[in-house]
Amino acid sequence: MKKSNKDTVVFFDTTLRDGEQSPGASLTFQEKLLVAQQLATMNVDIIEAGFPISSQGDFESVKSIAQQVKGPVICGLSRANTKDITTCWNAIKYSKKPRIHTFIATSDLHIEKKLQKTRQQVFDMAVNAVKLAKSFCDDIEFSAEDASRSDIDYLCSVVEAVINAGATTVNIPDTVGYSLPTEFGKLIATIKQKVKNIEKAVISVHCHNDLGLGVANSLAAIENGARQIECTVNGIGERAGNAAIEEIVMAIKTKPMFFPVSYNINTKEIYKSSKLVSNLTGITVQPNKAIVGVNAFAHESGIHQDGMLKDKRTYEIMSPQDVGVPESLLVLGKHSGRHAFFKRLKDLGYKLDNTVMEELFSKFKILADKKKCVYDDDIDSLVEQSVSGVKEVYSVDYVNVTSGVGVIPTATIRLIKKVKNKTEILQEASCGTGPVDAAYKAIDKITGIKVELKDYTLRAISGGEDAQGEVNVKVNYDGANYIGKGMSTDIVEASINAYIHAVNKIVVMSLGGKK
Ligand code: KIV
Ligand code: ZN
Repeated sequence: MKKSNKDTVVFFDTTLRDGEQSPGASLTFQEKLLVAQQLATMNVDIIEAGFPISSQGDFESVKSIAQQVKGPVICGLSRANTKDITTCWNAIKYSKKPRIHTFIATSDLHIEKKLQKTRQQVFDMAVNAVKLAKSFCDDIEFSAEDASRSDIDYLCSVVEAVINAGATTVNIPDTVGYSLPTEFGKLIATIKQKVKNIEKAVISVHCHNDLGLGVANSLAAIENGARQIECTVNGIGERAGNAAIEEIVMAIKTKPMFFPVSYNINTKEIYKSSKLVSNLTGITVQPNKAIVGVNAFAHESGIHQDGMLKDKRTYEIMSPQDVGVPESLLVLGKHSGRHAFFKRLKDLGYKLDNTVMEELFSKFKILADKKKCVYDDDIDSLVEQSVSGVKEVYSVDYVNVTSGVGVIPTATIRLIKKVKNKTEILQEASCGTGPVDAAYKAIDKITGIKVELKDYTLRAISGGEDAQGEVNVKVNYDGANYIGKGMSTDIVEASINAYIHAVNKIVVMSLGGKK
């Protein structure tokens, strides 16, 4: 990676690494690839595709992103040790622009309590890690974890040493979101002033949101010389999350007098990236979320609506089109043909091969028969379900539920199980506290997989009486969470589809297809 031009802020997206560490977020291989492709379309400069040593699955997805996603630098995370760095390189080396990101904590708290080492040992580990990484590729990032709570002189000495060892980007994380904007800006200014060789590297920041200040701290860092920002779509990430890419980019775009810098992000792809990430992770965006919440451009009060009609600038500091909120509410229905459907897919930004488009068209026809109007949101959900890449080991064949006042909720479920060439029909019945609970218990009996339902949400995908219900479930199996999504005009069916989606993920991702 070329050293960043002084006036360009580069965006390092860590949705697939820190974002995927969000409680409840776990993406399949295909889903990660889809997100990476969308990030490339949005023109992020660097994609942190994962943490290759953390699991075989993560290694494989980083590797395939490195092989298939063109444009951005593809980066992998590694701790400051030989095995991590070598594994990271083996995953990212397929990219035309690979980057190794290595990190170690520099605060006394982390050094003494977590790592149980001395400052000198950590200093040596940091330098050796960067030297080893440099033997594999040129583009090396070093992160001083918990930098904002580190002794400033020690931090500066580590930063200077890793630059001498070959680091081209030095990242200063506010790992626990503890800083305030003035404080964090001052930290970056001090590093810029005290580290003798700082001109040889790009200063990066990585701000967590524990006090809700991730974006504010990142902006303060830019004002003080940082030229790489680490962030995630919708601000997802560990605990309270990371700084949100869409908020930082739009702040820079909206206030050019404060930020005389350029950037490469295509802001018109922001809305689509946000929807994709929230749909795939199951982490919904709060309605009043800046830039991408459903209310971000809604004007409710009469006074505001009046102002908007007279001049949009009265109540809008940016236009919804700038972030890619679709302008037209084109509606398809059962009379819409293949051509109109394919065109809509294209307009919504999907680049899919013909087989997938034909499969989607069949699903669209079934939906359009049940539902008069098919909106963009319905189409998005169809696409996301079809491309998740989860093999349908179990599929629903028959459902009968009874519930009502004075009736014990009961469900009879028949599933088709397909493993390789073998097909089985399995059936069970169960009672429950409600029809969905009864159905889930019957499914548990059939699969024999003991899962714990952690979360269940139901929402209407698009407006109108015939709106589809979309159910997201989070289930826990063997300590890991799996997200399932289902939709239908019938909410019990949507609930069952979501549960089966999660169970299929468990079978494929955890049990290797063995159940
Ligand atoms: O929050 C943090 O410090 C990190 C580092 C690994 C960059 O995620
Ligand atoms: Zn982090």
